[in-house]
Amino acid sequence: MNNILITGGAGFIGSHLAEKILNEGDKVTIIDDLSTGKLNNINHLLNNSNLEFINDSILNIDTVDRLIKNTDIIFHLAAAVGVYLIVKDPVKVIETNILGTHSILQLASKYNKKVLIASTSEIYGKNSHVPFNEEDDRILGPTTKSRWSYSTSKAVDEFLGLAYHKQNGLAVTIFRLFNTVGPKQESRYGMVIPRLIDQSIQKKPLTVYGDGLQTRCFCDVDDVVNGILALSKSKKAIGEVFNIGSNIEISILDLAKKILQIVRKNNIETLTNNQIKFVPYDEAYEVGFEDMLRRVPDTTKIKSLIGWEPKISLDQTLNRIISEKLAN
Ligand SMILES: NC(=O)c1ccc[n+]([C@@H]2O[C@H](COP(=O)([O-])OP(=O)(O)OC[C@H]3O[C@@H](n4cnc5c(N)ncnc54)[C@H](O)[C@@H]3O)[C@@H](O)[C@H]2O)c1
Repeated sequence: MNNILITGGAGFIGSHLAEKILNEGDKVTIIDDLSTGKLNNINHLLNNSNLEFINDSILNIDTVDRLIKNTDIIFHLAAAVGVYLIVKDPVKVIETNILGTHSILQLASKYNKKVLIASTSEIYGKNSHVPFNEEDDRILGPTTKSRWSYSTSKAVDEFLGLAYHKQNGLAVTIFRLFNTVGPKQESRYGMVIPRLIDQSIQKKPLTVYGDGLQTRCFCDVDDVVNGILALSKSKKAIGEVFNIGSNIEISILDLAKKILQIVRKNNIETLTNNQIKFVPYDEAYEVGFEDMLRRVPDTTKIKSLIGWEPKISLDQTLNRIISEKLAN
């Protein structure tokens, strides 16, 4: 039985990961300060004697030292996330993501423990040459636009992780997540699918930013968690960076239409007029907000190494999220 530490394990992806690891029979310790995560996400796991939950920040070095000392593998997912937070509280984003990851790596190095670090497709910034492979260039906007601080903070995490591997021989694997979706994802931090679904169920207009022609690729959290776990078991993944995501694109406008269709199929009344409301980016986030038109992963690397590819369709995921929301 392995002792696994998940930072940010009360969050959306971390809670799914914790459940899967517990089902595999390992012990899980979660450290989460519940800033964007919720106890509700792991309530159903709390009576499992193999789970320990620590309500604390990864910036508390004494706690993290004790936890890492007693762990075998660390999945580091704790981060300040979500576009709203990035624009509203850039100090928190930079401090949590850089200082937090630095202390995790320092302590993992002290006790020689394997670490998997969650990174993001935001790393590629404004690069428009899709699909992105792991060696592609990062093209970012100016430091006066706070949205780029998230991408930069995660890039520093990657540099640090790779440096600890190269210099200290620490077992570090980095996974870059593209849009990950599924039950338990919160709408309040700017995540598009939970927001559009909540709006449709609440009979409100679905807010689409810009002209809605920007596309994204959405991958089910179950597929993502399987990819992360498979990487953790591969020796060849150590010292490497992997994209994890779906490469099927959909425009946000088509996504909104699809959600309306599925919600109606579930016999839920939606607005009949003005179902979709276009909101300029300046209004949605901040003046001069820069968004990427397309963001598509090249997942050849993870597929070649461990055979991973997504199996769950967007329709299946949307149905799952909608049923869960209706049941609550
Ligand atoms: N969801 C996506 O589409 C996506 C895409 C790219 C990258 N990621 C990355 O995946 C990881 C998980 O994201 P998520 O979508 O589950 O978001 P989330 O907000 O649900 O999870 C992050 C968790 O970290 C916790 N946290 C934040 N600061 C902390 C601190 N100082 N100490 C302890 N815990 C802290 C939060 O409370 C939350 O539970 C993050 O690192 C994020 O950058 C997610």
